[in-house]
Amino acid sequence: MNKNKEMYSNKIIMAPMVRVGTLPMRLLALEYGADLVYSEELIDWKFLKSVRIINHTLGTIDYIDPSDGTVIFRTCEKEKSKVIVQLGTCDPERAVSVAKMIENDIAGIDLNMGCPKEFSLKGGMGAALLTNPHKAKNILKSLVENVNIPVTCKIRVLEGVQDTIELVKELETTGISAIGIHGRTKTERPQHVNRNQTIKKIAHNINIPVIANGGSREIHKHEDIIKFKELCGASSVMIARAAEANCSIFCENGMKELDDVIVDYLKLAIEYDNSPSNTKYCVQNMLKELQETPRGKKFLECTTLEQICAIWNLGEYCRRKQIEFHSKGMLGRREVCP
Ligand code: FNR
Repeated sequence: MNKNKEMYSNKIIMAPMVRVGTLPMRLLALEYGADLVYSEELIDWKFLKSVRIINHTLGTIDYIDPSDGTVIFRTCEKEKSKVIVQLGTCDPERAVSVAKMIENDIAGIDLNMGCPKEFSLKGGMGAALLTNPHKAKNILKSLVENVNIPVTCKIRVLEGVQDTIELVKELETTGISAIGIHGRTKTERPQHVNRNQTIKKIAHNINIPVIANGGSREIHKHEDIIKFKELCGASSVMIARAAEANCSIFCENGMKELDDVIVDYLKLAIEYDNSPSNTKYCVQNMLKELQETPRGKKFLECTTLEQICAIWNLGEYCRRKQIEFHSKGMLGRREVCP
């Protein structure tokens, strides 16, 4: 098997998740045992208008929107060989331009072919590419031919099993190194049963690693990941919601208490100066119904990173780091939570 395919074989992966898959969560997933981590979906033109900055204060590489200082993508050496950037695009030339811009900072590039949101569909991106395989193949082929890192795509299944197998075989001809398959159609929602048998049939029919996805409802502990992988006959597994709720699902030796996970997450959010709004969003998705408790209500009132951190006894650490960052000169916009 070639090196690129090997990179995606027998792996446990954090799936792409908008707003969740930012640097602190990716690093946490890797610390806990994930083999690879996907970024949130990033739209091609946002990347194209960004500027690449080496952030010496944080030890990161930042892609910043010069119009307002927003961090589009922040990465660092620790994840360089493990991070896959997922692109939202409908255009081969733009896709290649972005990939060439970032290829030396990351491990792989993925094409989103599964997003069912109106924004994506209207723009011919995400799941719209499932019904435009010619366009999808053009994008993937252009990427494979023009960049030096492995290229993959992530799809949803089609209504018909045979149609899905044929689509995947077509995509395989472009030279992609692996394919992520979410076992739901573009109209199905998380409560629908994941079509594990369809994933299995696809896996039998192609020669690149299949990364099975959609199993979070069946994944409550680490062993369930292996069960899901076997059910799908897949080479690897990609996990979204189970990781969003408690990232320690990646720990081989058992899951951690939610409060400990939040503390580990917040330390990384502090160390990489994650925005308060993004940090709050991620913690909210971990707390879920615990937001109704008195502590949860206090958390919801927080507007700064320090206030959020104080609830988990990290307020002082947060303040110290922020003073240190400021004294070294800070990059990126400091926003306040809505
Ligand atoms: C997602 N999903 C997703 N998929 C994708 O290809 N790009 C993305 O940016 C996102 N964003 C996203 C955000 C959030 C908060 C969730 C919960 C999900 C879909 C995700 O990667 C995955 O395909 C599904 O959630 C099914 O897998 P699980 O959750 O059963 O492991």
